[in-house]
Amino acid sequence: MQAKVMEITNNTLSELKGINDSQALEQLRVRVLGKKGELTSILRGMGQVAPEMRPMVGQWVNEARATIENAIAEAQSAIQKKEKEKRLEKEAIDVTLPVNERSAGSLHPMTMVLEELLDIFTGMGFEAVEGPEVEYDHYNFELMNIPKNHPARDAQDTFYVDDNIVLRTHTSPVQARIMTTRKPPIRIVSFGRVYRADEADATHSPVFHQLEGLVIDENISMGDLKGTLDTFARRLYGDGVTTRFRPSFFPFTEPSAEVDLTCAACRGKGCRICKDTGWIEVLGSGMVNPKVLEMCGIDSKKYSGFAFGMGVERLCNLKYNVPDMRYLYENDIRFLKHFRG
Ligand code: PHE
Repeated sequence: MQAKVMEITNNTLSELKGINDSQALEQLRVRVLGKKGELTSILRGMGQVAPEMRPMVGQWVNEARATIENAIAEAQSAIQKKEKEKRLEKEAIDVTLPVNERSAGSLHPMTMVLEELLDIFTGMGFEAVEGPEVEYDHYNFELMNIPKNHPARDAQDTFYVDDNIVLRTHTSPVQARIMTTRKPPIRIVSFGRVYRADEADATHSPVFHQLEGLVIDENISMGDLKGTLDTFARRLYGDGVTTRFRPSFFPFTEPSAEVDLTCAACRGKGCRICKDTGWIEVLGSGMVNPKVLEMCGIDSKKYSGFAFGMGVERLCNLKYNVPDMRYLYENDIRFLKHFRG
């Protein structure tokens, strides 16, 4: 009996030496010390042992169990240590590896210019307003003194939704909406998308953005218009940029003027961009036609006003030297990256 216990002990101890993972160790423990294990079965067989021998056998088994348990515990902590080392090695971070770059987005150049324009005009006391892009003919044309069959309708190739509804061809209908609902003094800029049935090319797009200003008060003159636009030109393109007025025609203003700005690229010296003139045409303007004031319910004897309108894409491309309007819509990342702050 003693020999049997010794044998189990020795076999277990020598088997332990060859074990180096915790799963195999646990299997060995169950096989030897478990309820149906080799050592335990000796205690079970105690019935066959002579009564006076039983305490002895019990002691052998207990001693053997203690020895084996100790050895297993030792082996276990050695294995755990090794396994932990292996895990740490596998999880080690190589700080010399190149990082995955996270590219941050940026504002679109149109957004930047639009925000700058709104900043400039609200800084001068204008209130920024918006209106619907699907608009009644009444606001888009009639109140702007462009009745049906007026030739000016041809100049703005219009997308008609039905006889009375259009995609707005300019942001002027927002001004009509304000004039018909408010009393002077009025000082607003309206901005947003407008639509014209144009082929897309370097300077045209069927959808583009306008920003228009309107001031109505007593004693408003062309001088106020000039002063406002000079300030705007300087703030957007820097000192030395000024305006030049050329007589023109719009049904909703009288008199009307096309306004050029000093070419920001050559500061008026003449270059490829301004076709050697030193000037760039950027906006339309004029004194609000008294007929428009009256149609909108404003007393044209008491009040006068000026209005101006500009294409935002053009201002944007001049500011950032972008040669083609289509770049603004294609959203090619390689193009947009140039504007990252
Ligand atoms: N609404 C005009 C256009 O789109 C621009 C403009 C506005 C001209 C105000 C004069 C005064 O062509």
